[in-house]
Amino acid sequence: MVGKPMRSVFCSSRAILVWMIDFAEQILHWYDRHARQLPWRVSPVDRQKGVLPDPYKVWLSEIMLQQTTIPHGIRYFLRFTELWPDVHQLAAADRDDIMREWAGLGYYARARNLHKCAIQVSEAGGFPTNSKDLQKLPGIGPYTAGAIASIAFDEPIAAVDGNVERVLSRFLALEDPLPQIKATLKLEAQARVPVSRAGDFAQAMMDLGATVCAPRSPDCLVCPLTKTCKGRELGNPAKFPVKPAKKKKPERYGQVFLIHDGQKLVVEKRKETGLLAGMIGLPTSDWAPVEDHHVELDATNFVGKRVGRVEHVFTHFRLHLDVVEVIRSPDLIERSVDLNDLENAGFPSVFQKAVTLWKKSRLA
Ligand code: ADE
Repeated sequence: MVGKPMRSVFCSSRAILVWMIDFAEQILHWYDRHARQLPWRVSPVDRQKGVLPDPYKVWLSEIMLQQTTIPHGIRYFLRFTELWPDVHQLAAADRDDIMREWAGLGYYARARNLHKCAIQVSEAGGFPTNSKDLQKLPGIGPYTAGAIASIAFDEPIAAVDGNVERVLSRFLALEDPLPQIKATLKLEAQARVPVSRAGDFAQAMMDLGATVCAPRSPDCLVCPLTKTCKGRELGNPAKFPVKPAKKKKPERYGQVFLIHDGQKLVVEKRKETGLLAGMIGLPTSDWAPVEDHHVELDATNFVGKRVGRVEHVFTHFRLHLDVVEVIRSPDLIERSVDLNDLENAGFPSVFQKAVTLWKKSRLA
């Protein structure tokens, strides 16, 4: 009598373990056949032949992919690795050059941290090889540390990004909204990480989420988890992860000025703190929460012509900017860029939108 319940507890935990191992095996089996070819990635075939990923490339790609999609990220990745093929060369680069190359990726604090991190890693002689020490570096949080440690060093640690959250919340059919289940998802992900091939497993989960378990239309027929997926069993996997009620972002309104004399356009280097810190920008009014916010042009009374409006969504607000063209010569004290060289100015997206709109208005 005493032995029986003990045995059933033992059996059920063993069953769970087998179930977890099955999960990893199915995922890895799928990855061996369907892994995407990515420029920072070592294919599963080469990986099993002993080829090691370059930690610099893994790190750089992860920082970039926090910001953007794979197709967009690849272009930036190739450009960065062409200019700065290793961490020492990135560390030695001029920060303004890095900021210029980062332009368009958004969230510029990441570019500053990228440089700081490169300097620290270069001074230390290389990247730390575990997630705990990786997290001590600028710009590397728990997800990125998990991704780098698993992909570059095969540490058996989970890297839970949005794709992985989607796969697991569907697989387990978790009914609570996403923010509330994040901790559970981390535990569930960690429990499934295999002892060997942790890096391939991490990338397999990301690829599965991106290509098969897609946000709107999961392709369950080709999914390696289709037989055991609870979300599919319940008939509507796309409903997971359940989203929280959306809060509307606050609105901000203002004007952006394209001040030029037909040859040179006035630009400014933004302050070292705050939004788009340290980037090249265009002069603007304040950004106010009311639409009829109106700014007098400067004391010299140059007349501005409104050419249209651009919209840009930042993390915490949505910005509407009236684009105003002002024709006058830049002052000696002002920075300017050649009108023929605007593509290389390194404007962040919000200002690039204003420049594009203004250029279109000149053709009309
Ligand atoms: N998304 C973020 N990091 C990734 C990676 N290393 N591979 C594929 N997708 C990713």
